[in-house]
Amino acid sequence: MQIPISKFDAISQQTIQIREPVLADGARMWRIAEDSRVLDTNSSYAYLLWCRDFADTSIIAEIDGEVAGFVIGYTRPAWPRILFIWQVAVDHPHRGHGLGVDMLDALMESCALRGVAQLETTIAPDNPASVAMFASLARRRGAALTRTTLFTADQFPGGHQPEDLYRIAPVTTQEEWR
Ligand SMILES: CC(C)(COP(=O)(O)OP(=O)(O)OC[C@H]1O[C@@H](n2cnc3c(N)ncnc32)[C@H](O)[C@@H]1OP(=O)(O)O)[C@@H](O)C(=O)NCCC(=O)NCCS
Repeated sequence: MQIPISKFDAISQQTIQIREPVLADGARMWRIAEDSRVLDTNSSYAYLLWCRDFADTSIIAEIDGEVAGFVIGYTRPAWPRILFIWQVAVDHPHRGHGLGVDMLDALMESCALRGVAQLETTIAPDNPASVAMFASLARRRGAALTRTTLFTADQFPGGHQPEDLYRIAPVTTQEEWR
C-alpha cells in the first residue's frame, strides 16, 4: 500500500483519503490535538513546521474533504532506519473505525519502502487506546511489540505521566512479510 490512498466506505458512505500533510493542514491538526484532551498540544507553529519539514514521515486522513486525523513522526537523526511516531490523533466522531491503525499502517508501508526497519513511540501508562492501536498495528504486520521505560515522571517539569517506549520490529513492506 503506497500513499496517497483513496477509498469509499460503503457502510458510512464516506470517502476516506490518506495522504501526506501539506501546510494548509497544520491549523486543523493543531485543533484536533487540542480537542483530544489527551495529547500534549504543541504550539500551532510546531504543526505548521511539521507539515513543512516532516511531511514524508507524517500522514493525514481526510473524510469527505475534512482532516479527521493525523500522525506526526520523524526518522531519528542518528538512526535514520528508526521511525519515531510523536503523535497520533483521530477526531472524536471518527474514532473506533480503524482510522488510527490505517494511517499508521500506510505510513509504515511508505517508510519501509524507503528503508525504515523499526518503529518507536512513547505511550503514557494511562492510555490503553494507544497501546491497543499499536498492538493492533504490530499484529497486522506480523511484528513484535516491546515495551521499556524511557521518560520517568520526575524528568518532566510541571507534572506529567511517565512515557514508556514501545518498539515495533521488524518493519517490512507488505510484500516482504507476506
Ligand atoms: C488513540 C486513537 C488515535 C485511536 O484511534 P482510532 O481510529 O479510534 O483507533 P482504531 O479504530 O484504529 O483502533 C485500533 C485498535 O485500537 C483499539 N482501540 C481503539 N480505541 C480504544 C479504546 N478507547 N480502548 C481500547 N482499545 C481501543 C481498537 O479496538 C483497535 O483494536 P483491534 O484492531 O484489535 O480491533 C484515538 O483514540 C485518539 O485520537 N486518542 C487521543 C489521542 C491519543 O491518545 N493518541 C495516542 C497517543 S500519541
